Amino acid sequence: MTLGVVILAAGLGKRMCSKLPKVLHPLAGKPLLAHVLDAANSLAADCQVVVFGHGGAQVQAALADYNCVWVKQETQQGTGHALMQALPALANVDRVLVLYGDVPLISSATLRRLLAISANAALGLLTAELCNPSGYGRIIRDPAGRVLRIVEQRDATLAEQEISEVNTGFLVADQTWLASWLAQIKNDNAQGEYYLTDVVALAARDGVAIASTQPGCLAEVTGINDRVQLAELERIYQHHAAEELMRAGVTLADPARFDLRGVLHAASDVSLDINVIIEGEVRLATGVRVGSNCVLKNCSIGENTEIFANCVIDGAEVGANARIGPFARLRPAAQLADDTHVGNFVEIKKTTLGRGSKANHLTYLGDAEIGAGVNIGAGTITCNYDGVNKSLTQIGDAAFIGSNSALVAPVSIGAGATIGAGSVISRDAPAQQLTLSRSRQTTIPSWSRPQKKPVK
Ligand code: UD1
Ligand code: CA
Repeated sequence: MTLGVVILAAGLGKRMCSKLPKVLHPLAGKPLLAHVLDAANSLAADCQVVVFGHGGAQVQAALADYNCVWVKQETQQGTGHALMQALPALANVDRVLVLYGDVPLISSATLRRLLAISANAALGLLTAELCNPSGYGRIIRDPAGRVLRIVEQRDATLAEQEISEVNTGFLVADQTWLASWLAQIKNDNAQGEYYLTDVVALAARDGVAIASTQPGCLAEVTGINDRVQLAELERIYQHHAAEELMRAGVTLADPARFDLRGVLHAASDVSLDINVIIEGEVRLATGVRVGSNCVLKNCSIGENTEIFANCVIDGAEVGANARIGPFARLRPAAQLADDTHVGNFVEIKKTTLGRGSKANHLTYLGDAEIGAGVNIGAGTITCNYDGVNKSLTQIGDAAFIGSNSALVAPVSIGAGATIGAGSVISRDAPAQQLTLSRSRQTTIPSWSRPQKKPVK
């Protein structure tokens, strides 16, 4: 059976009070709609359709990586009307699954279950039991438990409002039946909208099988209308993510002060102190320890390396047994070999630092190839930019760069060379020799401090 997935995302999202379309607000660093598209992708559907309304170009641009059909709903006349707009794009599928752009935590396990239990039904509903069902559509069943219809809160009688089983909105339907039901729904209700939920009564009237199941947890079917709900779901997501990592062998100093905004591949005995943020794809090998307040983005860190507090690492690769920080910044294409030491207020960009090399204090290394066993003194700067072009600095194995040196690229320092402190090096320095460029120190013996003139 072929499957089409429709994501309804045309709502205005007024309560977000935002210029950004609601479905682009991030949860765990990713737009709400991307969470839903990822869940949909995991089902390997034959076709995915997003029904959008506001901020269409912006939404499409932000999600350009996803392979889906974009359908515009010009005016928001209800969920049934929204789905009608998508039908032409779904003409060739057997079944249609309806998801929502502002309900981001739906799991692929729940969707698979919904599809499975509906395999022999023309309609399958995802329902939920709520202590406080107010605001939701209620599921009306006959005494035998068969679903008869859904009544919206605003159209419900007081007795119907007592029902605690609600419509989550998620459903799967046979495409041919769905098309015929949608053609029959009307907007003669409290909101003057075409309700998708009205297809349920039509299905019951037609005598087809209606299946139903419930989600793994309520967060999966919780929609976001404002920033309070967004923050609540963010916490739920982070709580789950932290729990999963801890069960897989990661120590979190405090699971409530950890944020995952991407994917963390952590080997055994990794430990993260408080306020660590993981972004993009991060790999931490066995025994890696990360201090408090570190941001790690798209990087990989080798075995037993320790990252001390307050480091920002983005797009870098660090080997085993290294020591980074506190207060170090590793930028894209920083490649640090095993046993390297990078200390406080050191910034490294597009630079290879060979095995056992050290840059312990107050340094900028950009566009450099640095060998093994090199010592970079405090305050060393690779002057890699002349205002127009970037140039390379090469430093051979076991070189020693004295403190406060400026290496004006392109320049090369030979293996075993020593650069005297305070030098400005703009020509290549030979291997194994001392090179320095600074004025000689002199002492003037006859000099005395000026005296204050006597006041008359
Ligand atoms: C809907 C259901 C209700 C269910 C509830 C769960 C209907 C008629 N009611 O009510 O039974 O309990 O969800 O949250 O379906 N949308 C469009 N175009 C439109 C209208 C809505 O794309 O013209 C999208 C919205 O962006 C939103 C979703 O559909 O993502 C739900 O719309 P909303 O108006 O919030 O429906 P509810 O009143 O909450
Ligand atoms: Ca809603």
